[in-house]
Amino acid sequence: MAEAAATSLDPADTILEVNNIEVIYDHVILVLKGVSLSVPRGGITALLGANGAGKTTTLKAISNLLRAERGEVTKGNIVFDGAQVQNQSANELVKRGCIQVMEGRHCFGHLSVEDNLLTGAFTRRDGQAAIREDLELVYTYFPRLKVRRNSQAGYTSGGEQQMTAIGRALMSRPKMILLDEPSMGLAPQLVEEIFEIVKKLNEEQGVSFLLAEQNTNVALRYAKYGYILESGRIVLDGEAAALRENEDVKEFYLGVGGEGRRSFRDVKHYKRRKRWLS
Ligand SMILES: Nc1ncnc2c1ncn2[C@@H]1O[C@H](COP(=O)(O)OP(=O)(O)O)[C@@H](O)[C@H]1O
Ligand SMILES: [Mg+2]
Repeated sequence: MAEAAATSLDPADTILEVNNIEVIYDHVILVLKGVSLSVPRGGITALLGANGAGKTTTLKAISNLLRAERGEVTKGNIVFDGAQVQNQSANELVKRGCIQVMEGRHCFGHLSVEDNLLTGAFTRRDGQAAIREDLELVYTYFPRLKVRRNSQAGYTSGGEQQMTAIGRALMSRPKMILLDEPSMGLAPQLVEEIFEIVKKLNEEQGVSFLLAEQNTNVALRYAKYGYILESGRIVLDGEAAALRENEDVKEFYLGVGGEGRRSFRDVKHYKRRKRWLS
């Protein structure tokens, strides 16, 4: 089955293909139990799931950052832009256009916003002029960062740090950004502002996105397609519009079930009722 999946998609239309991967931490902790997903070239795809479902692990498997966590892909394979990622270092992947923006918006707190952005260009060899040009491009998408360019990143707001983290990723001229929980800890209005910028970057710069989010509501409004991950398995996937209308998604992830609002943390009820588990 894995072989069939590996050859079923046209690499011209598909920028990322994850084929039935298993991930183990510390040689024994099985976290991903056969995850498959794909992202169309120029698409925005959401990877949804509760805390601990395996979203970050999936993104790190793709960007080849698991080794630093004592994690390993033990089955399956991942193809980015026509080539297997397993034999490429994280830096090589960045050069080839695949970059991850870490959860928790990691910035260098002691550097200015602008210097943080410039660190994103470290894999480039096309000279200062091109890099300055792209810096200006980042500022057109994130005008707030231009205002704050000389501020020490550690003293900027959570929203500005998330923008800095995305802007820094843009400085590597990515074809695809793996964006890990951009909404985390941010006020709703700021979340909306950041997703609007993601949408513009997708439409105007052609950047493909894989968005890992617990915030199902906002992610399904901006993504075209979504996958729902639970305990290391994809339990449901579909067009975002269809997922938004799915009764289980409404009940357990959007909190708007027919019988009133209900949290998906109500585990007992969740396991008993959920159609995709029966
Ligand atoms: N470095 C690690 N070593 C061992 N277990 C880990 C490690 N990182 C994550 N895990 C475990 O893997 C599971 C999935 O975690 P994670 O991928 O971070 O989920 P999510 O991003 O969806 O919250 C969790 O049970 C978590 O405790
Ligand atoms: Mg995570």
